[in-house]
Amino acid sequence: MKTMLITGANRGIGLEFVRQYAAEGWHVFACCRKPAAADKLNYLANQFPGRIQVQVHALDVTDHQQIEQLSQTLINQPIDLLINNAGVYPPDRGDAFGKTDYAAWQHAFAVNTMAPLRMSEAFIRQLSRSERKTIVTITSKMGSVTDNRGGGSYIYRSSKAGVNIVVKSLSIDLSPQKIIAVVLHPGWVKTDMGGPGALITAEQSVTGMRRVIGNLTLQDSGKFYAFDGQIVPW
Ligand SMILES: NC(=O)c1ccc[n+]([C@@H]2O[C@H](COP(=O)([O-])OP(=O)(O)OC[C@H]3O[C@@H](n4cnc5c(N)ncnc54)[C@H](OP(=O)(O)O)[C@@H]3O)[C@@H](O)[C@H]2O)c1
Repeated sequence: MKTMLITGANRGIGLEFVRQYAAEGWHVFACCRKPAAADKLNYLANQFPGRIQVQVHALDVTDHQQIEQLSQTLINQPIDLLINNAGVYPPDRGDAFGKTDYAAWQHAFAVNTMAPLRMSEAFIRQLSRSERKTIVTITSKMGSVTDNRGGGSYIYRSSKAGVNIVVKSLSIDLSPQKIIAVVLHPGWVKTDMGGPGALITAEQSVTGMRRVIGNLTLQDSGKFYAFDGQIVPW
């Protein structure tokens, strides 16, 4: 059975990834900060026979000790696909020229930029022992330097541009182990973060991203894809 581990699985894009991969028969380790309050995720997990196909684990991705503990818990478990999905978008009022909230910036870097590397380091053994050996980090077009025509959003843009270069290095460093590492832009998605005016649903976004992930080979490692399979310029 193919296995994946995902962060930020209790709502939005993360929850939809759990729904779709579990429906396809994957074994899913669904991580979220507060499992006791993750009603939609717990409901989903309980839909599967034996209640083992979707296993919910507590994980705040800024807590490196908790990441290490989870890795120890799953030490002998091959993981085909790690999805670094958890992300934050700082409040607009703290992310404009002259109004920058520097504490929010540090937090955004901890979640959006550093955690994907820490997760990759912690789960390298489990990934190496799997069949598909794939790390997908959910980034944003807002982290594309080429695509930045609107300015502003210093915190979010820099945290996603930062994780893009992190994943590029990861793809090079892990190529001897035949591990694939890519960044994926999910589109503008109707979630708490994307808002109701966004262009696509989480279902459409994740359906597209799963297609991209399913077609990845080692030659694709280090690339920046959108949910529809297009290459996004750095
Ligand atoms: N929606 C869009 O249009 C869009 C566009 C481009 C990129 N993205 C990216 O797509 C990913 C998912 O976004 P979304 O739209 O699903 O956002 P969302 O609805 O706001 O969900 C964010 C998820 O991240 C989790 N999270 C935040 N901080 C965390 C932490 N410290 N540790 C663990 N989990 C944490 C949240 O958990 P809690 O419930 O505990 O807060 C929640 O599960 C993010 O990386 C985002 O930057 C989204």
